[in-house]
Amino acid sequence: MKNIVAGNWKSNKLIDEAQQLFNDIQSIIRNVEKTEVIIAPPLPYLGQLAALSNSKLSIGAQQTSAFGMGAFTGEVTSEMLKSVGVTWVIIGHSERREGFGETNEVVRKKVRSALNNGLKVILCCGENLSDRQSNDHFEWVGNQIRDGLSGVSAEEMNDVVIAYEPIWAIGTGQTASSAQAQEMHAHIRGIVKGLFDETVGNHCRVLYGGSCKPDNAQELFSQPDVNGGLIGGASLQADSFAAIVSASEMQH
Ligand code: PGA
Repeated sequence: MKNIVAGNWKSNKLIDEAQQLFNDIQSIIRNVEKTEVIIAPPLPYLGQLAALSNSKLSIGAQQTSAFGMGAFTGEVTSEMLKSVGVTWVIIGHSERREGFGETNEVVRKKVRSALNNGLKVILCCGENLSDRQSNDHFEWVGNQIRDGLSGVSAEEMNDVVIAYEPIWAIGTGQTASSAQAQEMHAHIRGIVKGLFDETVGNHCRVLYGGSCKPDNAQELFSQPDVNGGLIGGASLQADSFAAIVSASEMQH
């Protein structure tokens, strides 16, 4: 089972900058062996960059529509993403949950739409600071996972990865400690085992996200239940992203 390192570029980079960054990353990571590398650029560039993707570097969208094809002005559907060569889609990122009204119900519909159309899913979860301080974080994340995965079959879980991203760590420079990450990742894996079975749980990759940087990636990735990372800020420069990929390559 390979680790995954995924770069979430969020709403950054104009097309020329995006193309340059993609080229730079592609050339640095061409010898990668133990890590699946994914880049999630802004939506308008997906087709152009997906045309250049290869077995070492695949393309993800940062979200998808909860609806199918039809009269939904402005929506971009899973069918469309698939048709331009997108492989993965990030669903339920906290910035979409908090800023764009994505409830667990919407997340569940998006997961269904992605899987129905042959996209692989990075399902995000994570608590805010007050939930952690009141010790409700396990329950909160558990509910996000149970709701997001409701209706997903054991077989479909081959195409689902979970990303644990504590909201208090995203873009703040305040990373979860490796012990905090491990503890929550083990909890998440336990939930997946309970929903499906031991094998599905053991095979489900759980990524960490939230101020993951070159200097903490190795420590985080060395935890038994951390199978890579979802990287925001540090994915916007080729050298820092590549350093995080290298940290993943050093794991067994
Ligand atoms: P960050 O973002 O690495 O900038 O904290 C992670 C994410 O939001 O996916």
